[in-house]
Amino acid sequence: MKEQTLVIFKPDSVARGLVGTITSRFEKVGLKIVAAKMMMVNRELADKHYPASREAFINGMGGKTLENYQDMGIDPVKEVGSADPHEIGLKIREWLVDMITAAPVLAVVLEGPHAVELVRKMVGHTLPLKSAPGTIRGDYSFDSSYLANVGKRPIKNLLHASGQLDEAKYEVDLWFNSDEIVSYERVEEDIMR
Ligand code: RTP
Ligand code: MG
Repeated sequence: MKEQTLVIFKPDSVARGLVGTITSRFEKVGLKIVAAKMMMVNRELADKHYPASREAFINGMGGKTLENYQDMGIDPVKEVGSADPHEIGLKIREWLVDMITAAPVLAVVLEGPHAVELVRKMVGHTLPLKSAPGTIRGDYSFDSSYLANVGKRPIKNLLHASGQLDEAKYEVDLWFNSDEIVSYERVEEDIMR
């Protein structure tokens, strides 16, 4: 069950000085840091990380925005000029690429049993407004689709975390060369065997 997953500390968490606090939460759960680099992201990497061709990703972002608007009784056409999840998703994707290329990020690979699912559980719902207390997004942010779209920017939710195992494999390979990923033992591995 040992998996690797990609976590990106997006510009808002780096700028807010939350890297140490959040990293320690992952470490305490028993997730092992096997790669890390502080970097500026170029447009090519950003485009591959947020692919316009991945329909489920684009429609998912648009769909979550529409749900948030429905909850708040807001007309999406008035607010963002469309009620089509794909069109809204593509617009958000542009904002995402601009955001992730504008300021430093920390990219990390975490390894452990069920790493992908564990990290997603700890990170919480995409919208900090909806993410439960105790999750990283729920504890350290209050952002919503409404605030993000009014500001014409992506939701500031601190982290990116791979969604599923296949996404994690693609993203770890995209962000790191194999010689940048290390191998070592943590004490939990002995205790939990
Ligand atoms: P992530 O990939 O970043 O871990 O987040 P996620 O799976 O929970 O969310 P996803 O649907 O993949 O969206 C990717 C990122 O897009 C930004 N977003 N902004 N303005 C908006 O309404 C909006 N919707 C999504 C968020 O930063 C989200 O993490
Ligand atoms: Mg995602």
